[in-house]
Amino acid sequence: MTPLADTHVHLLAGLDDGPSSMDEAVAMCRMLVTEGARHATALAHQNEGYPENVADRLRYATTLLTAKLTEKQIPLAVYPTGEVMLSPTTFEDWQAGYLLTVGGHNQWMLVEMPHGMFLDVLPIVEQFRPHGIRLIIAHAERYQELLYDPALTEKWIAAGCMIQVTAGALANPWEAGMEKALHNWVTGGFVHVIGSDGHGLEWRRPVLAAGYERLVSWVGHAAAERIGSLWGVSVLQGLPVQVPSPKPPQRSWFSRLFG
Ligand SMILES: [Fe+2]
Repeated sequence: MTPLADTHVHLLAGLDDGPSSMDEAVAMCRMLVTEGARHATALAHQNEGYPENVADRLRYATTLLTAKLTEKQIPLAVYPTGEVMLSPTTFEDWQAGYLLTVGGHNQWMLVEMPHGMFLDVLPIVEQFRPHGIRLIIAHAERYQELLYDPALTEKWIAAGCMIQVTAGALANPWEAGMEKALHNWVTGGFVHVIGSDGHGLEWRRPVLAAGYERLVSWVGHAAAERIGSLWGVSVLQGLPVQVPSPKPPQRSWFSRLFG
């Protein structure tokens, strides 16, 4: 069985809009294991809505969760991570030690757009580049400006970004055109890691398996394993990851002949 990596799941009890208790967090971890995951972020929001969520707080909460998972013999490794909302001070906030990169390895920062906005990440990419930190665009399918613009996505990937897609969106796209756009992304090599974006047991549950199966049906086992497992585990553990450039878009026989 492929040990899946959930690179986006809120598991830190009481720290954000994720699980409200340790019991709920542990139940989410059990569910993730049944979904096929063996590695997951212990993640909480880092934005102005949660000013107390500084890096040390997330790290400490993760040690408590790890101890509980060991005690309950739940085979899920968890990695402290911030879901960083981009702001004009993202780089300075990281320098000050407030922001937590994925697993605390200072290799990847998981970032989301400010509410209702879509920013060009390239200036921030350049700020972090000298420090060896690259960005993962969290739940990238949410941003129509990206999902329906392969040239822009390609530009961000070329600049060193990884694209994260929510497993539930792969399994059940929620708007017309999204399935085709996601299919184009996945088959074109634009998608690097998946996450459940799980928040709890009552709503936004940590589902992964159906999205992974969708990847298998679109690109086969080997490519799906890279996205669902290999690259995700490497990111979580701070191992080197080289993702290939996206493939050029397929040209039809007509345009090859006459284009
Ligand atoms: Fe999230």
